[in-house]
Amino acid sequence: MNIARKGPGTGARSPRARLQSSAPRQSLNGTWRFRWSRGLAVAPADAWNQPEQPDSGVPGDDWTDITVPAHWVFEGHGRPAYTNTRFPFAIDPPNPPDENPIGDYRLVFDASPQFRSGAVLRFDGIESAAEVWLNGELLGETRGSRLTHEFDVTGKLNATGNLLAVRVAQFSDASYLEDQDMWWLPGIFRDVDLVATPADGIWDAFAVTDYEAADGTGTIDLFIDVAGAAGADVRLSIPELDIDLDASSGGVIGVGEVEPWSAENPRLYTATLTAPGETVTLQLGFRRIEVKDSVLLVNGTPIQFHGVNRHEHDPERGRVMSPELMKRDLLLMKQHNVNAVRTSHYPPHPDFLTLTDELGLYVILECDLETHGFEEIGWKQNPSADPGWRSAYVDRMQRTVHRDKNHASIVMWSLGNEAGTGTDLEAMAAWTRGFDPSRLIHYEGDWSSTYVDVYSRMYASHREVRQIGEEVLVPAPFDATAAQVHRRSLPFIQCEYAHAMGNGPGGLQEYEELFDAYPRLAGGFIWEWIEHGLAVTGPDGRRGYAYGGDFGEDVHDSNFVIDGLVSADREVRPGLVALAHWYSPVRIEVLDASVRITNRYAFADLSGLRFVWSADAQSGDLKVGDVPAGQSAEVPLPDLDLPEILTVEALLASDTAWAQAGHPVGRGQRLWLNPAEAPADLHAPAPEAFDPVTLRLRSLGGLTLDGPQVGVWRAPTDNDRYPGWDERDLPPYAERWHAAGLDRARTRVVSSSWDEDALRVATRTTPAGRDFSVDADLVWRRVSATALTLDVTLTPFGAWPVEWARLGLDFVLEGAPVGLDWQGQGPGPSYPDLAAGTFWGSHSVEADGLYTPHVKPQESGARAGVREALIRTSGGALKVTVLSAEGVAVTVSPWSRDTLAATAHHHELEADGRTHLSLDVFQSGVGTATCGPGVLPRYRLTPRPGRVTLLLAAGE
Ligand code: GAL
Repeated sequence: MNIARKGPGTGARSPRARLQSSAPRQSLNGTWRFRWSRGLAVAPADAWNQPEQPDSGVPGDDWTDITVPAHWVFEGHGRPAYTNTRFPFAIDPPNPPDENPIGDYRLVFDASPQFRSGAVLRFDGIESAAEVWLNGELLGETRGSRLTHEFDVTGKLNATGNLLAVRVAQFSDASYLEDQDMWWLPGIFRDVDLVATPADGIWDAFAVTDYEAADGTGTIDLFIDVAGAAGADVRLSIPELDIDLDASSGGVIGVGEVEPWSAENPRLYTATLTAPGETVTLQLGFRRIEVKDSVLLVNGTPIQFHGVNRHEHDPERGRVMSPELMKRDLLLMKQHNVNAVRTSHYPPHPDFLTLTDELGLYVILECDLETHGFEEIGWKQNPSADPGWRSAYVDRMQRTVHRDKNHASIVMWSLGNEAGTGTDLEAMAAWTRGFDPSRLIHYEGDWSSTYVDVYSRMYASHREVRQIGEEVLVPAPFDATAAQVHRRSLPFIQCEYAHAMGNGPGGLQEYEELFDAYPRLAGGFIWEWIEHGLAVTGPDGRRGYAYGGDFGEDVHDSNFVIDGLVSADREVRPGLVALAHWYSPVRIEVLDASVRITNRYAFADLSGLRFVWSADAQSGDLKVGDVPAGQSAEVPLPDLDLPEILTVEALLASDTAWAQAGHPVGRGQRLWLNPAEAPADLHAPAPEAFDPVTLRLRSLGGLTLDGPQVGVWRAPTDNDRYPGWDERDLPPYAERWHAAGLDRARTRVVSSSWDEDALRVATRTTPAGRDFSVDADLVWRRVSATALTLDVTLTPFGAWPVEWARLGLDFVLEGAPVGLDWQGQGPGPSYPDLAAGTFWGSHSVEADGLYTPHVKPQESGARAGVREALIRTSGGALKVTVLSAEGVAVTVSPWSRDTLAATAHHHELEADGRTHLSLDVFQSGVGTATCGPGVLPRYRLTPRPGRVTLLLAAGE
């Protein structure tokens, strides 16, 4: 086995479309025999691949059973490893390391006569290189872990006892081309099939569909590769379009008026191609993707990608996909107003694309290519610029395009990700353009953009995105080069933006507003859809997730693999809730006497939606009428006495393939809240309730607590631990906060006075070893034996060197948290730049809903705009009513911030049995500094005074 050469695989048939066919197919998935070796040098050179002992199955006794498909690291052999950009081995292309796990696989199978006249053995995914033997004969080698290889086995099959033997190398020359940011997971991880290729059947078919918006007609440009003699009779039939004709010679076929395909209305027509020996079925979607004057058009209309990047990930099985999981991902996307997906950074399981066609998502289908690790050495030896690798590059692209070329949902072919620049990429683009001019070509890594159809970037700041949108509104500078002029003719997308790592991403609103404002900006794709946590069991049996470094890797990138809008188990993270709001096809603004409804669909009117208003205890339907795509309408408000809250929701009017009638797709709300009534007849509180040293409250009507302590720190989020890309010269906030001592503030009582009507305490809270402070004036008054009012004025003192994380009052309550009921924003958490998708109302969560279980513990769970909260603990309940005009952000946690900051995994967090409560007057935003801009200036918390009046009551 030669795994140190630069070429593509060998021996496979030329790639073709995955066709839904009448030809027999036999799955070879199941239990195989398996043997693991430490490296190629010690992989036994015995008769492992020879059918000498077909009955006992295997020679030797170091063989075990293994599941196919699976990654062998989850089947008891070796361990997973995670790196982002770095290779986990020496950069010495094309050589893999010597310590290179080798897996030998054997399967004995029978083949019925229908396969013996013509068949291929089909492998949909083997990481990273394999040698395939059938009945002792070498069929060839695979390269391209996520690419299909089919080996011709015509005339090579026996009725019974065929031995399929596959030797897989974890690392190979191909690993240099597969340095995607993900786990290294070896093995046969996608399906293996035996597929009949009938002699007078159809080997391949390519139906290039087009739609002419000017007259509403469609065409099919048909290419058919018949298996047998050329000129064999093939009929095309599309019953819905009354088409039934001889298509043997292919060519352009007009189909008359059709309904076009789009992500909004994924209209498909079933077509069959019938040859004497085989019928294949195609689902045709008629659509045109094109660029005009730097604007991206689908069916003649500008569209925006509201996209996400999706890796394939299952917390137990890695990149082994089930139909249920793929469907779940896509339903969740559609339910959160996502209309596009980039298959980062390789072709997905082939069935995924059948679903994107049916459900309606635009797809950027990416080739299995990334050479990011060469950046570490200044891109020296980058394969992309080495002609020796060219045939491997072009082969990868051909396998990518051929397999999926008939899917309506694919609007762009992407050459790969982060593979630097070079002529091999240009060769991929040239082949693709020649083969399939009906789709656009994407590649982000070469900003010259000379051989692509779209200008693509990742994590560009808001400022730069605006500049890119604006620059094409004026003529090109006179000294612009030809390449620059070409680039200006291209639409712009962010193939990755808003890094959904930990608590975040912030800044979505500002991106969306830019995408809306400039026609050149065709939207983008959030990084990323799924966190790649691997399921583990915590010390007390709790389910948790592992990340890089948890498997003893010496080179790894820690939790950078945990950066999704959904957890590995597909729990929705707060970032997805916010995203659903900004990606919504409808904007609803409640004005003084009317509601403005904006239709953000590209094609659809609003007849698929029902608008429902609710105000206090009343509700009703809002008649919105006809609002064409891209237009707004103002609808009068129902005749109501001035309510405190008015909410208008857009709901699906009827069931769709992805959600039921009533599913919310957009919401608008306006508040006219009256301040809570302040209690009268107040006196000084009883001294026993206060700690004699700190003068903090220690008991309230039978409740034991300690507070408030002034707090300006938070347990750093992932984003707090990285400098924003726009300010890399500064250390990240987590470090600046630690240097300034926000995490070690001490409070001194400056003065106190006890008189008839109040206890007045002045404190100064200063980080240990520093001389800048927050001064607090606290005024306590007794309402009853179980209730007090607290009026707090907070004032910064001295020269704070850094912005704060928050400004608030911290309490510790005896007893573990049990739940929270509140009136405020909810039901999920919100931070100033991550607040969309929450709405004002009465909400309630139990203990496990108080926080977001981020895999790496960090600040989470703040409920903003709270006017009233009941904090339920095992030691009793505390009721907080905000008497001042603005609400507070309430964070309730079973863990202190120190514990959160010091613990590596959520499942390792140890609760102290108390309730940690913060009432914050201000909060900083969260930003997306892990990749992209940090907290935008408007959401930063420069030290400033704050004031709040609270009613605290031991409560029911
Ligand atoms: C990008 C890359 C992604 C991922 C992301 C960080 O540079 O394309 O694969 O690594 O950064 O999570």
